[in-house]
Amino acid sequence: MRIFIMEDYAAMSRKAAELMAAQILLHPDSVLGLATGSTPVGLYRCLVERFKAGELDFSGVKSVNLDEYLGLPAENSQSYRYFMNRNLFQHVNINMANTHVPDGLTADPEAECVRYDELIRRMGGIDMQLLGIGSNGHIGFNEPADSFPVGAHCVDLAESTIRANARFFPESGQVPRQALTMGIGQIMQARRVLILASGREKKAAVRRAFWGPVTPEVPASILQLHPDLTLVMDRAAAG
Ligand code: GLP
Repeated sequence: MRIFIMEDYAAMSRKAAELMAAQILLHPDSVLGLATGSTPVGLYRCLVERFKAGELDFSGVKSVNLDEYLGLPAENSQSYRYFMNRNLFQHVNINMANTHVPDGLTADPEAECVRYDELIRRMGGIDMQLLGIGSNGHIGFNEPADSFPVGAHCVDLAESTIRANARFFPESGQVPRQALTMGIGQIMQARRVLILASGREKKAAVRRAFWGPVTPEVPASILQLHPDLTLVMDRAAAG
């Protein structure tokens, strides 16, 4: 595991963008596993800047997002599809047909999960998976549990996650209570994993995930077993 402790959020974002840009430059046809939340916003901004400066080409890149709220259409400003379009896709030359997010409006969540697993398999797996971390140690929407789920699945969100994500919604009661997420198995099969953490509210989660036992009660802790893991965090998260 490689660890970079950067001065602040801006430096963390620049470092993460450097690592992701290197992936794209070395392998222009990369399959990127992408994440949402407030943590990667700065990284996406840096990537867009580098694209506009002519340093990056997304035309061969394919993407699969980690998760999506159940019940939110792509046009809803809180959906993860909307987030990705707004923060990255619409600013770069990625082919939108090659960007994938689970379908939050599916009438059959189980079938959608099977489709998503199959899609990732057909794409040849994920070359670089980007992750944030929830304050309870969740990755994607894999909440603390009794076991590590392997494939994509539908989850009931933890109360703490619903509370944490309420800040993005006009009214807290509007936070969906269920989501579709990639499984831990899929994340672990990514050839490289890049996880970001920023702010002191992530300090305890980082400590438990990377300096504690590997347990499904802290889903991110399994990443200790990943052969190519990079953790980039700011000083506040490192504590
Ligand atoms: C959400 C997302 C995760 C994200 C986490 C942390 O629940 N599903 O992918 O990593 O929250 O979000 P933030 O970066 O806003 O702290």
